Amino acid sequence: MEENNTEVLGRRKFFQILINLGLKLLLLFTAGGGILMSLTFMVPPKKLMQRLTGWVPTVDKDSLQPGETAQVIFNGTPYFILRKSSDSYASFSAVCSHAACIVRWNQDIERFACPCHDSKFDTSGQPKGGPATDPLTEMALKIDKSGKIFIKLV
Ligand code: FES
Repeated sequence: MEENNTEVLGRRKFFQILINLGLKLLLLFTAGGGILMSLTFMVPPKKLMQRLTGWVPTVDKDSLQPGETAQVIFNGTPYFILRKSSDSYASFSAVCSHAACIVRWNQDIERFACPCHDSKFDTSGQPKGGPATDPLTEMALKIDKSGKIFIKLV
């Protein structure tokens, strides 16, 4: 009878050790996965950290009507491509020169308008009201033979 109890206790102890070990391994893998994911967020892949520079393609010139804009984003910064007239285009950084809010194009008044402090900029990027005194940053622009508009990132 005593031998039987010893055997049951031995088996019970064995399963307790096994379950305990399994839980510890599960915790280790879970914590390890969490740490690995955290490291992935903290250290983004090298490709994501590279900044685009030079001429970058944006939109086709015929996709815009006079007075219309397209917005593109490079390196986390938004830019506008503006068709000023049938054969005139311009590009500006959408970052307001006053305090770096993002301006929006208002086609009704043909002005870039800043939602933060109500600065306005004309189609040449010049300030036309509000606290901003500097123009929007104009980007160099070119159009290739196929009609694709490129802007130059520095
Ligand atoms: S940030 Fe644009 S007006 Fe102040």
